Amino acid sequence: MLYELLYTSIAPAGLSETELFQILEKARAKNQAAGITGMLVYHNREIMQILEGEEMAIKALFDAVFKDERHTSVEVFYQGYIDQRAFSDWSMAFKMLDEDTVKELFVGYEDFDPGKTPLNVIASSLNRGKKTFLDLRNSL
Ligand SMILES: Cc1cc2nc3c(=O)[nH]c(=O)nc-3n(C[C@H](O)[C@H](O)[C@H](O)COP(=O)(O)O)c2cc1C
Repeated sequence: MLYELLYTSIAPAGLSETELFQILEKARAKNQAAGITGMLVYHNREIMQILEGEEMAIKALFDAVFKDERHTSVEVFYQGYIDQRAFSDWSMAFKMLDEDTVKELFVGYEDFDPGKTPLNVIASSLNRGKKTFLDLRNSL
């Protein structure tokens, strides 16, 4: 069955943009072969990723991602079955958020807590987590 998993993590200070793009390039090739689609969002060392595909494939990939030392504090904020993919056209879409985009994502969001980091806030609200990915997908 089709399955989705959304998680956040933190990139170590030493992870360069070049390394991030290398991770993405390899991930895209592997995802295509494994029938996995999704999106990775990056902002100020914060990572948020949605993975979708067959349940076994997603669980196997997340196992590898969880153990990957190129990021830390890996935290799942949602996983479950889906009827259809939201990112069927992307082996791994990518969006680097700038400050303006982050601000836009929070317009009208009343529970905004300035003590929390942006992706942290998004991840703590399930509906908002998926919605944010969809909004960003629509802006690609
Ligand atoms: C932030 C982040 C996102 C990743 N996303 C993916 C992904 O979407 N697909 C993938 O195959 N590997 C991804 N990886 C890499 C995996 O953690 C792991 O290194 C890889 O699957 C191992 O592949 P290999 O055994 O062929 O070297 C990601 C790694 C990081 C740090």
